[in-house]
Amino acid sequence: MQKLEVFGSNKLKGQIEISGSKNASLPILAATLLSDKKVYLKNLPKVKDIVTMINLLQSLGSKIKFKKKNLIIDNSKQNKNFASYSLVKTMRAGILVLGPLLAKFGAAKVSLPGGCAIGTRPVDVHLKALSKLGVKYKIIQGYVHAVAPRGLVGTKIKFEKISVGATENLIIASSFAKGTTILSNCAIEPEIKDLINFLVKLGCNIQWTSKRTIKILGVNKINQPTHTIMFDRIEAGTYLIAAAITEGNLIIKNVIPNIIKREIKTLRKVGAKIFTKKNEIQIKGNKNIKSLNIKTAPYPGFPTDLQAQIMVLLCMANKKSSVREDIFDNRFMHVAELNRMGAQISINGNKALIKGNIKFAPAELMATDLRASVSLVLAALTTKGKSIINRIYHLDRGYENIEKKLKKVGAKIRRVNI
Ligand code: UD1
Repeated sequence: MQKLEVFGSNKLKGQIEISGSKNASLPILAATLLSDKKVYLKNLPKVKDIVTMINLLQSLGSKIKFKKKNLIIDNSKQNKNFASYSLVKTMRAGILVLGPLLAKFGAAKVSLPGGCAIGTRPVDVHLKALSKLGVKYKIIQGYVHAVAPRGLVGTKIKFEKISVGATENLIIASSFAKGTTILSNCAIEPEIKDLINFLVKLGCNIQWTSKRTIKILGVNKINQPTHTIMFDRIEAGTYLIAAAITEGNLIIKNVIPNIIKREIKTLRKVGAKIFTKKNEIQIKGNKNIKSLNIKTAPYPGFPTDLQAQIMVLLCMANKKSSVREDIFDNRFMHVAELNRMGAQISINGNKALIKGNIKFAPAELMATDLRASVSLVLAALTTKGKSIINRIYHLDRGYENIEKKLKKVGAKIRRVNI
């Protein structure tokens, strides 16, 4: 076990290079199952969730070489269609292998994702949509047993709610279905666009026909593509907030500012000065942080994955703020820990009311999920004194070299073995 020790309160200054996106890498790795040729992926982040997905693919028979940020995957002898609980339990994205396995083998047995700290996260939207493609399934003792007796057959599918994972699973599965599939009410997160870019390089025929509608013509021709994973927009947003809360001056590199317009606009509203270039963003934090009311929403709305981090910033604002969580039903796990650091946040249903003008005090803290953990690191960066953050395996699921990146820009932070 490891913990982080964070000593505030330095103004962060310098440059931070953003890694490849975890949430784009995961569906793209799952989609490589469609191929029986080698696939080359670049710019993968070295984080625990990627290692978990690689282990899952290896258990299915994939041959993988992962060196530095680059990965070569050879699925020519990939022959298993059983994804076990031990590999899916820690990472919900494990369910993304269901679509490609069904497209390839016409049958699959995949564990349901395990319990999750941020609320019930069912996969009913994935399963109902797959059944429209001709899949019959039963859930027996925590496993989805699915078969497509006549193969996958293209049709019109309207998702009953916007789901990132279900959209990804269905795009991948439909790419190899017979005929044409029209998917509507799709999620349009940039990571989905990256998945489509990858699939098109692989030989798939996918087009957007309107804002949330995709037309897919099933194919069976496969290329041998090289694809560079897009930047991690949540990591970028987290470091932008780190600059804003420490009155810092950071240059965030390897990003496309246009993709995170909403986050930039939000940070400008609270008073940060932001300058954008083609692939970088400079942010200067302001001493006076203005209050704001925010609600999370599917892209292009404000991301739920930055909700915990923005809350830290709003605790330091000049007046009361509020944050409404509209995606997940229990994503305020960080609030109790932030309150132990002196925040005054009260929860009313899915709304957090945040008293401003807070100076965080150092504390010993418990990380509860990926984004909640990083919000504790952010709050600790602003305090005078030493904070300890336990259970940082949550953080390691999604942030590459967080303490090295923060140290390089002046934070006093270190990882300690317990
Ligand atoms: C993805 C992201 C996650 C992000 C989330 C929302 C990855 C690996 N993870 O998760 O970081 O927080 O999008 O932007 O990309 N739902 C159902 N039934 C389903 C599927 C979803 O009820 O079958 C609900 C979920 O419980 C949640 C909402 O729909 O309340 C959105 O979930 P979804 O968009 O599917 O999130 P994930 O793909 O799991």
